[in-house]
Amino acid sequence: MAEIIIENVSKTFATADGTVEALKNVNLSIEKGDIFGIIGMSGAGKSTLVRCINLLERPSSGKVKIKDRELTAMSSKELRNSRKKIGMIFQQFNLFSARTVYENIAFPLRKSKLTKAQKKEKVESLLKLVELENKADVYPSQLSGGQKQRVAIARALASDPEILLSDESTSALDPKTTKAILNLLKKINKELGITIVVITHEMQVIKDICDRVAVMKDGEVVESGKVFDIFANPKHEVTKEIVNNTTNLSNIYELIHSDNFQLKPGQVIVKSSYVERDVSEALVSQISRMYGLDVNIIFGNIEMIGGNPIGGLVSIIQGEPEQIEQALSYLREKKVGVEVILDGRAS
Ligand SMILES: Nc1ncnc2c1ncn2[C@@H]1O[C@H](COP(=O)(O)OP(=O)(O)OP(=O)(O)O)[C@@H](O)[C@H]1O
Ligand SMILES: [Mg+2]
Repeated sequence: MAEIIIENVSKTFATADGTVEALKNVNLSIEKGDIFGIIGMSGAGKSTLVRCINLLERPSSGKVKIKDRELTAMSSKELRNSRKKIGMIFQQFNLFSARTVYENIAFPLRKSKLTKAQKKEKVESLLKLVELENKADVYPSQLSGGQKQRVAIARALASDPEILLSDESTSALDPKTTKAILNLLKKINKELGITIVVITHEMQVIKDICDRVAVMKDGEVVESGKVFDIFANPKHEVTKEIVNNTTNLSNIYELIHSDNFQLKPGQVIVKSSYVERDVSEALVSQISRMYGLDVNIIFGNIEMIGGNPIGGLVSIIQGEPEQIEQALSYLREKKVGVEVILDGRAS
């Protein structure tokens, strides 16, 4: 069953310069236990959408449901209770600077029915989860960005949420710290079964931890689905742009149009794309062995998403023309996308 359902949600802001349609009829369904990514350029409406999930921002129209309960129809008391089950973390951490790490994490527990000893136990277990046991008594200003985000995560988990919303939570961090925080989110998702919604403008974040993704542009969700499928076969312009920005394969077009580039007779430039799941064989060495070809890889970009290779190679292949043709058919049979970019066989 879907845990979060966003139904025909629109959001309009009135500004001095007129109205801004930040969300236009957005529909999304997020499954329990998923890590769901929302990606898009600046101003696409990502933050507005995620703020509509916990009603920090009230939609102008449409419904938001969590597990069949409609948040948009609740009284403020019901809403307060439901919100406790939704944690949120931000790019700027939003910690209380005058409180210690321990006090920050304990803050959501101040009105809970737990005894003092139970609260202490809870905060200590959260400190352990985010690996900050030795920082309990320091103030946020004494922490690195990554450590601050760990505190914010622990604080968000203190009220035992079922959903964690993350708005660009790694955007202020360096790549190594980003990886560590993403791994922590993954661990929280796996071990605590919390559904996580990740807002980002970085494709790498989506690739690293998300199961599914929605791509936004100008207040609309332009496509959504499993991460592998969306990035293997991007349909919308924006998605294509995001995917292309992260590979170097299109450099081949610049190269072949440059003045000093010349293809030798008999050579073929081929772009092969790994767009189906389960391509795991050593296809380059196979075709060179089976068809007696020289395969020279000039650009390559292959990575794993959900255990499947995705990306592609640009290679110059040299050999007997018919052998090359057979090799290309073989690759196609093996579910590799094959595109001949330049063919020197007739020359
Ligand atoms: N409180 C507000 N008042 C007026 N306009 C707003 C308000 N909040 C957001 N907007 C507008 O709504 C649109 C979507 O903004 P939003 O912050 O959701 O984008 P975003 O995808 O999160 O962008 P970024 O990647 O830069 O964070 C923008 O045009 C923005 O200017
Ligand atoms: Mg934003």
